[in-house]
Amino acid sequence: MIKAGVVYHSVCGSTKTLAEATADGINSISGCEGVTFAVEAKHIQHGRYENPDLMHRLDQCDGIVLGSPTFMGSVSAQFKAFMDAASERYSSRGWVDKLSAGFTIGSNFSGDQLNTLTTLQIFAAQMGMLWVPNDILPNLDVQGRNRSGCQSGLVAVVNSEGAVHELDRLTALYLGERIGRLLKRFSPCGSI
Ligand SMILES: Cc1cc2nc3c(=O)[nH]c(=O)nc-3n(C[C@H](O)[C@H](O)[C@H](O)COP(=O)(O)O)c2cc1C
Repeated sequence: MIKAGVVYHSVCGSTKTLAEATADGINSISGCEGVTFAVEAKHIQHGRYENPDLMHRLDQCDGIVLGSPTFMGSVSAQFKAFMDAASERYSSRGWVDKLSAGFTIGSNFSGDQLNTLTTLQIFAAQMGMLWVPNDILPNLDVQGRNRSGCQSGLVAVVNSEGAVHELDRLTALYLGERIGRLLKRFSPCGSI
């Protein structure tokens, strides 16, 4: 079974909803298993994120999708603490060649979410992971997904009730499917 982890941080639940949709997309591809991993503040002591179990379970994934809310134009402090803790894997090259992708959400249409996504993309590059962009063509998708028009990943914007917009949820679902399909294509067995 090919495994992909979706690691995310969420305070009010919108990033969690996107993470679950991404995992659903991965799980919809036969032979693939998508699992969500929440970064929780309780694992941050004196500014350092420590959760060996989560890190160990990510080691065993073939792909790692990254999700953070946009806070003050960047990843949340909690997600950054997780990224810093992953520096052990930077030195050991533990996550090299895993597929990666990312998503973020903000309350504004141009709330600097791209900086969050770029931060996730650079993190993936530092780890030697292979970044999978969002290939949904904005404005041409019949369902209207990728409504923010971002190709680097999913940039979501909360709806008028402060919840996840259905089209953003569908974009996250697609991102998961794409990761699953690509993992299968690049798996040593070809396809399963
Ligand atoms: C401290 C803080 C900073 C924020 N900064 C931004 C921002 O820079 N751009 C933006 O579009 N939204 C910003 N927001 C809105 C959040 O990104 C938005 O509410 C998001 O849905 C929260 O994700 P969550 O529901 O997973 O916690 C901010 C919210 C908080 C609490």
